[in-house]
Amino acid sequence: MYDYLIVGSGLYGSTCAYELKKRGKSVLVIEQRKHIGGNIYTENISDIQVHKYGAHIFHTNNKEIWDYVNQFAEFNRYTNSPVANFKGKIYNLPFNMNTFNQLWGVITPEQAQAKIDEQQSELGQKTPTNLEEQAIRLVGRDIYEKLVKGYTEKQWGRPATELPAFIIKRLPVRFTYDNNYFNDKFQGIPIGGYTQIIEKMLAGIDVRCNTDYFQHRDELDQISKTVIYSGQIDRYFNYCYGKLEYRSLRFETEIISKPNVQGNAVVNYTEREVPYTRIIEHKHFDPVDTPNSVITKEYPAEWEDGLEPYYPVNNEKNDALYRQYRELSKLENNTFFGGRLAEYRYYDMHQIIASALKDLKKMP
Ligand code: FDA
Repeated sequence: MYDYLIVGSGLYGSTCAYELKKRGKSVLVIEQRKHIGGNIYTENISDIQVHKYGAHIFHTNNKEIWDYVNQFAEFNRYTNSPVANFKGKIYNLPFNMNTFNQLWGVITPEQAQAKIDEQQSELGQKTPTNLEEQAIRLVGRDIYEKLVKGYTEKQWGRPATELPAFIIKRLPVRFTYDNNYFNDKFQGIPIGGYTQIIEKMLAGIDVRCNTDYFQHRDELDQISKTVIYSGQIDRYFNYCYGKLEYRSLRFETEIISKPNVQGNAVVNYTEREVPYTRIIEHKHFDPVDTPNSVITKEYPAEWEDGLEPYYPVNNEKNDALYRQYRELSKLENNTFFGGRLAEYRYYDMHQIIASALKDLKKMP
């Protein structure tokens, strides 16, 4: 008999497993995929650590969480500075003085602010009614047309004029020559990939991969006192109120016989006509001296059964549906729900660790 059955070996389930083992609890972790790690899994291809489920950069302002994750790996000093390719011209991101200089030739923050003010004024006093108007209100037409429109339309699979304004609450604009995407104090990539973090967390713990909870539920419930469930909450309740919606992604990965293909880890393609949203060149996250490189093209996709549920679509309808499932989850005895799928919300890695450590306080 195990004290805990943990469904899902992602960062949430693995943090719980590690902490519970430290408390002397017996733990079984099950994972439906053939490998541990959930979406932070990295795989060695051609001696390069490949982020199999999308680019993952660890960043946080929380010193405790930074120290916590550094127990499991040494981190490098990677700084995320993606660039945008619009019709063959490169622009720095996030929008900063470099971008404004590339767009308009302006030199000083005052000139840049004046240009943005002038461009925003085309909307007059109108309250934005869709994403296009909202973006123009925030950054003006040039940035919207070149760097926001095509990218966002590919992400959501529909015209910006048909998307609600609330999707873009703010667009970070910086009046310094600083290409560092994150404002956080701590940032980096684990040297040798993320999978080692999960391996260390799960060391000495029983783990069964290729095991779907719902196919073995009777047996698994009988051999465990308490369940921690980090899978999709609607699936747990057999979709009794209906399905929560997600956006998915399709990844096309190839090995290229060149040591350096695009000179940067992340290049966004912001024009509508290019079907992918970005190309990741993995070796720039964790540099290695190899004759080859591995790149991944990322294509947004409508989510359907069989595809990975990557991003929750937190509109009113889905959030209301989630609240119904959450109420049901409160009635389950000896079962805890946590992580991005069970809580139907987007979490960064540092937030997932913080949320697991908080939830653990409630676990016997
Ligand atoms: P996760 O999905 O990783 O793990 C859940 C596990 O449960 C999965 O392995 C799944 O197979 C398993 N499971 C589900 N149902 C099951 C069942 N019935 N039986 C058995 N197993 C089951 N964060 C960040 O800080 N910086 C970044 O740069 C990025 N980048 C990024 C890119 C993309 C494309 C995405 C989608 C996400 C990010 N993130 C990120 C977020 C990061 O991926 C996220 O915080 C963690 O992976 C969440 O960990 P969880 O354990 O909650 O879920």
